[in-house]
Amino acid sequence: MVKIGVAGKGGTGKTTLASLILLSLLRMKQKPILAVDADPNSNFAENLGIKSPRSVVEIVTEIEKIKNNLPYGIEKAQYLEIKIQEAIKEEEGFDLLVMGRTEGPGCYCYANNLLREWMSKLEINYKFVVMDNEAGMEHMARRTSGDLDILFIVSLCDKVSLRTAESIYKMINSLQLNIKKVYLVLNEFLYKKNLDNLNFPVPIIFKLPFDEEIYKLSEENKGILNLPEDSIAYIVVSEFIKKLILERNL
Ligand SMILES: Nc1ncnc2c1ncn2[C@@H]1O[C@H](COP(=O)(O)OP(=O)(O)OP(=O)(O)O)[C@@H](O)[C@H]1O
Ligand SMILES: [Mg+2]
Repeated sequence: MVKIGVAGKGGTGKTTLASLILLSLLRMKQKPILAVDADPNSNFAENLGIKSPRSVVEIVTEIEKIKNNLPYGIEKAQYLEIKIQEAIKEEEGFDLLVMGRTEGPGCYCYANNLLREWMSKLEINYKFVVMDNEAGMEHMARRTSGDLDILFIVSLCDKVSLRTAESIYKMINSLQLNIKKVYLVLNEFLYKKNLDNLNFPVPIIFKLPFDEEIYKLSEENKGILNLPEDSIAYIVVSEFIKKLILERNL
C-alpha cells in the first residue's frame, strides 16, 4: 500500500492536487484505490464531481447514542465494525471515505481509538490511499493523517503560503511523524514567480500550472473526474505518478 497525503495553507490547491493524483491513478488502472476526505469541511467528493457519502463521524455519533441499547449478544466493537462499513462508498474504480467533523476535543475517545485501528486495517487492502487534508497543521499535530509514504506540501508562489509550508515542514520534523518522503509543490494558478532558487528544506517536485480546464469545470460545477487528458495540470501530476509506479514496480 502506498499512502499519499497533502498539506498546506488554505486555498493553495490541496484538494485539487489530491483529485489529480486520484484521477492519474484511475487512468493508469492502479486498483484498488481508497480516497479519504479528512478535511472537516469535506469537499473532496464535490471537487471530484460525485456525491458525498455519510461521514464516518456521523455513523460513529449514531453508535455512541445507542451503545447502551445494543441488541443482545452483540459486542460494541463488533457492532461498530459492521456499521462503519456503511461509510465506505463504492465509486467507479475507487472507494471513498469521508471522515467528517468531530464536535470538539476529547469526545468519542473510545470510538476514535477503534476507528484508528479500523482505518489501518482497512488501508492495507488497497494499493493506493489518497488523502485530502484540512488547511494548516492541525491534522499533523493531532496525528490523524497516520503514517504516510508521500506528503505533498502545497504552496502558492507568495511569501505567506511559503512560510506556512515551511512551518508545516518544521512541525513534521519536530513531531517525528512517520512520513517517508516530503515534497514541495508550487501551485502557479494565482500568480507565477521564478522560485527556482528558493531556499526550502525539501525540493520542489513539480509546479502546478494554472489550468484553464480546471477553472472551467469548477465554474460549471463539474468535477475533476471529467478533466480531459490534455489538461496541463493533469499532465504534470500524471507524469509524477507514472514515475512512481515504475520506480516501485507497481
Ligand atoms: N492549478 C490550478 N489551475 C486552476 N485552478 C486551480 C488550480 N489550483 C487550484 N485551483 C482552483 O482554486 C480553488 C482552490 O483550490 P483547492 O480547493 O484545491 O484548495 P485547497 O487548498 O484544497 O483549499 P482548502 O484549504 O479550502 O481546502 C479551486 O476552485 C480550484 O479549482
Ligand atoms: Mg481542500
